[in-house]
Amino acid sequence: MSSINYSEKIPNNVNLGEDRTLQRALEQWQPNFINWWDDMGPVGSTDMDVYLRTAVSVDPQGWAQFGHVKMRDYRWGVFLNPGDSERKIHFGDHIGEKVWQDVPGEHRANLRRIIVTQGDTEPASVEQQRHLGNTAPSMYDLRNLFQINVEEGRHLWAMVYLLHKHFGRDGREEADALLVRRSGDENNPRILGAFNEATPDWLSFFMFTYFTDRDGKFQLAALAESAFDPLARTTKFMLTEEAHHMFVGESGISRVLARTARAMNELKTDDVSKLRAEGVIDLPTIQRYINFHYSVTIDLFGADESSNAAIFYSSGLKGRYEESKRTDDHILKGQTYKVLESRDGKLQEKEVPLLNGLNEVLRDDYITDSVAGVDRWNKVLSKAGIDFTLKVPHKAFNRNIGALAGVKITPEGNMISANEWFAKKDEWLPTAEDRAYVASLMGRVVEPGKFANWISPPNIGINRQAADFEYVRFN
Ligand SMILES: [Fe+2]
Ligand SMILES: [Fe+2]
Repeated sequence: MSSINYSEKIPNNVNLGEDRTLQRALEQWQPNFINWWDDMGPVGSTDMDVYLRTAVSVDPQGWAQFGHVKMRDYRWGVFLNPGDSERKIHFGDHIGEKVWQDVPGEHRANLRRIIVTQGDTEPASVEQQRHLGNTAPSMYDLRNLFQINVEEGRHLWAMVYLLHKHFGRDGREEADALLVRRSGDENNPRILGAFNEATPDWLSFFMFTYFTDRDGKFQLAALAESAFDPLARTTKFMLTEEAHHMFVGESGISRVLARTARAMNELKTDDVSKLRAEGVIDLPTIQRYINFHYSVTIDLFGADESSNAAIFYSSGLKGRYEESKRTDDHILKGQTYKVLESRDGKLQEKEVPLLNGLNEVLRDDYITDSVAGVDRWNKVLSKAGIDFTLKVPHKAFNRNIGALAGVKITPEGNMISANEWFAKKDEWLPTAEDRAYVASLMGRVVEPGKFANWISPPNIGINRQAADFEYVRFN
């Protein structure tokens, strides 16, 4: 079951060949996907041979095989983690019952919505990143960008398979619509806010893959608990791919910091204009990018109080992060959770039923996880002897979703007036000048083994390749 059949038009480990109708439907969707890739995938990449990993099995050992391929020939397909015929629902009102292999009628609309919302983020990020190849700081980075792009394409396949197999005509229509919406389009935008923001430069790209792909990790982990077994199995496999995306972001920012720290030590200065004259990215600018990407990303978890979140949990559609490692009753009735609201001119805690607070629970788990990486970034600075600490802002800062939307909060968590906030905003969020400066650094460096001036080389190559390995052949 776990080995992948590559002889078929659509590589898969779900015995697609046994369901001719489904196979035909997906084979009809396939050329539309390729057309979308040609229109909206990485700019100018058609003739390049890229050193990519392709899944050959979903086993933990050796699922990846590396080789130079053209991206439009990448073997996108349908891969589910192996099933467990004994698996039981382990949270919510149906706890202890057998998991579902098909969609129960009463949960159909909600499951479709969950799958479409997840599926929509996958092509969206490819669209957001499509111009970045033109300004890659190295061939190594170019290859990593393309690896992420093809895997987001495969994640789209994963969701489209579920829509086609389990949701009939509505599912096919939703699958078509996933190729029609466009990131940032005024008339037909992607579903979620962060996926309509531009990713104009590589600092944004590394922040996006660190912060926003990590949102993906937490959403997928919550869906990997689902009572709808095909969704649980497909998201489990997606999580193995997501780890690399976050690695690209975390190591990318670490390399930027290492380069900046070296310039600060060589010039013995923290003066922003001197550092910019040297062509490196100053730490206050990096902090402002963190503030932006972090706040936009934590909005993705949704409203702090949500009756939908309660329904999704109680009906078994979406669990908590690491649900099975938790020691409570996994039903959560009668318990409470603290969320924030603005009351009497300040931020105050408010107790809400835990079931209604599950978006906040997932957001808080995400925050713990993302702070850990920021601490690792700070180690890069402290090791270099630089006295500067990067921080994520307060979770109420710059929010646009839920009870905190529009409330004016400093990165430290103090409530201030709108006037004060706008007067200070340029200290906290990237300014037009910051963005223009970062954009000015973005030249294309793609000779093997060479790196742009604003970023350090990685410690080790992909698949342990040498520093000057030819990851991309431009032909
Ligand atoms: Fe993804
Ligand atoms: Fe991702």
